[in-house]
Amino acid sequence: MTTGKSKLSNQLVQLGRGEDMSGRSVNLPIHISSTMLFDTLSAFEEARDARYQHGTLYYGRYGNPASFELEKMMATLEGGYGCIAVSSGLAAVTIALTGFLEAGDHLLVADNVYEPTRSFCNNVLARYGVEVTYFDPNIGAGVAAEFRKNTKALMFEAPGSGTFEVPDIPAITSAATANGIVSVLDGTWATPAFCQPLKLGVDVVVHSGSKYIGGHADCMIGFIVANEAQYLTMRKSAIAFGEKPGAQEVFLALRGLRTLAVRMSAAEQAGLTIARWLERQPAVLKILHPAFPDCPGNDYWQRDFSGAAGLFSVIIKPCSDANLQTFIDSLQMFHVGVSWGGFESLVLPVSPNRTVTPWTHEGRVVRFNIGLENTDSLIEDLSQALSHLD
Ligand SMILES: Cc1ncc(COP(=O)(O)O)c(C=O)c1O
Repeated sequence: MTTGKSKLSNQLVQLGRGEDMSGRSVNLPIHISSTMLFDTLSAFEEARDARYQHGTLYYGRYGNPASFELEKMMATLEGGYGCIAVSSGLAAVTIALTGFLEAGDHLLVADNVYEPTRSFCNNVLARYGVEVTYFDPNIGAGVAAEFRKNTKALMFEAPGSGTFEVPDIPAITSAATANGIVSVLDGTWATPAFCQPLKLGVDVVVHSGSKYIGGHADCMIGFIVANEAQYLTMRKSAIAFGEKPGAQEVFLALRGLRTLAVRMSAAEQAGLTIARWLERQPAVLKILHPAFPDCPGNDYWQRDFSGAAGLFSVIIKPCSDANLQTFIDSLQMFHVGVSWGGFESLVLPVSPNRTVTPWTHEGRVVRFNIGLENTDSLIEDLSQALSHLD
């Protein structure tokens, strides 16, 4: 029987290989042309008039056969109408938001979003006359109380960056839709392997493909996947900003997608093994992981997600900056790094930045990306490093 998970595994192998593979070359060539050639002026004019349509070969910045295949694959995996590949995850966020907003509009943003998203909203959108306010990501349908006459869009993340609360996606999106407000969700953590937010009522999903989709810490790429109503607005916004990933990034994202299901499953198992071990350590006060029953929104994670990524945080007992530094510097297998979703284990201290839901937990938040190393070795390493906190 073909279940959701086996369908995904098949799609990851079969999609994104072009129409004309005929069982020969298994991979698409890397497309490096900027210029598209036309034999006649009328053929050129036809392409120019259709340049916003997905698949039209007009000029490299509008797409090429490989980027169109990648976009088609991502749209199918997400259950979306269309996808636009851009140069980074942050570009996906900024292009999506600027696509809808204009001076005088109000944007609602969840209080636990990725810090550069918050910074873009506060420092760039605000400069262009967009009013930005924040909402409690655990508020569910109560978000309607935050709507104003001029609320145009709502931006949130599932789960929240660094602290991993899971929002009630359908409750938030149905409140937004009922009021004509466009919802944008950053779905980077789950990838389409573990959640398909468009099926939960979200209008636009953005991804940093630099994380699990690329999967090997070697590419910067982003995706905007939209429903039919929002797709053209998103595509025009990306084109207006001159946004396109390079040919190598398109190739790396397509290659990464082939193994997404097995890597996500490995990340889930390893992440849970380490998180459950950390929960039993005296220096650890709390685990911030969507699959843990005390995580805010764990019920929603169980209802709406089919798995958990290998990125989570822990709260360790209050300690001095020097002690925290000794702990982190003592780790041999975890390196300090801001990204995640690659093959390597990473560690990063987190300082939750909130304006409407103050972070009141005592202790220090530390985020871990669990890579593909042996979990016993990772536990041994964590054990010796934690001994510095005793
Ligand atoms: C949740 C989330 N969204 C977006 C981004 C931005 O992605 P990129 O680094 O590809 O711009 C990140 C990067 O860390 C992230 O964690």
